[in-house]
Amino acid sequence: FMVDKGNHRHFMEKEIHEQPEVISHTLSHYLDFAEGKAKRESLPFDFAKLDRIAISACGTAYLAGLVSKYWFERYARLPVDIDVASEFRYREMPMPKASAAFFVSQSGETADTLASLRYCRAEGIPIGAIVNVQESTIARESDCVFPTLAGPEIGVASTKAFTCQLSVLAALAVRAASERGTISAQEEKQLVRELSETPRYATQALKLEEQIDRVGRKLSQYKHVLYLGRGTNYPMAVEGALKLKEISYIHAEGYAAGELKHGPIALIDRDMPVIVIAPHDRVFDKTVSNMQEVAARGGKIILITDKEGSRRAGIETFETIVLPDMPEIIAPIVYALPVQMLAYHTAVFMGTDVDQPRNLAKSVTVE
Ligand code: G6P
Repeated sequence: FMVDKGNHRHFMEKEIHEQPEVISHTLSHYLDFAEGKAKRESLPFDFAKLDRIAISACGTAYLAGLVSKYWFERYARLPVDIDVASEFRYREMPMPKASAAFFVSQSGETADTLASLRYCRAEGIPIGAIVNVQESTIARESDCVFPTLAGPEIGVASTKAFTCQLSVLAALAVRAASERGTISAQEEKQLVRELSETPRYATQALKLEEQIDRVGRKLSQYKHVLYLGRGTNYPMAVEGALKLKEISYIHAEGYAAGELKHGPIALIDRDMPVIVIAPHDRVFDKTVSNMQEVAARGGKIILITDKEGSRRAGIETFETIVLPDMPEIIAPIVYALPVQMLAYHTAVFMGTDVDQPRNLAKSVTVE
């Protein structure tokens, strides 16, 4: 069937704007909002009996997996091994019996991800797939499928599939935590309530588009951009840099903020904007000291934060993009939106082919 752009300039823009709705569909597939619980469809493994999970994927799907590592480890006390599929498939990672493996893929056809899945299949551990295309090879070869209900994604750079992958993984982390007894019924209820508010915050994030468009115009004047973040904002920094380089062709790198002093600080000058993704969470003050290091070297900071964060940062920025204060568990899902919009608007100013960037394919089915 045909999917059209409606009144949007690009599929990517349309898909960014669909997020409140598709996130809502996806979350309600996994969470019972009335009961305040994660749903318990039967699984080919028992979260309570697992010692670890292995996660593998490529590109943006890998970064969704990387965010989920923080969730599974923090809430469910379940260790996660995660790697890009092109490494995973050749690493010969030992797979202890009490493991399960998750593969994250929009298309369900990515060659390296499929090869990693087959490696785990040969190791004899249960396999779960988080996929958007339910008729795909990866879905077919898995023991259980966790669909993302994003609908068809046309833009090569993944947007709504990413936030739906995060939604599924957050819901699974809550379920795992509940089944492992690492959160109480009360805490489960609280997390489910917080997750239920994601679409509302995503809608508010979309209202920042006019400001982000202006920031994108500025960003389009630069050749290099650095993204920094800590905790779950670290994968988000890498995702921001990935999106920007993919569609605007501006060189961008995403780093863990604490690694700044181990290399990238050497690059800081007034010609390299530094985008800092930092809601006021447990690691906020640490990130602020990294921003001070950037500011002291004349770096231009574009801070993506929340109300409380902008009040507490106490630093002169080039631009500050302010989201509402929100629960910590949903921040990675909601912060994806300004990050995507920034890449999108920068690319539009650059005049690139946003939906079909050069040299990239929507689905990489060869190695
Ligand atoms: C390509 C796409 C990316 C995507 C990656 C993984 O590189 O351009 O947007 O994240 O493949 O694709 P998958 O279908 O496995 O999620």
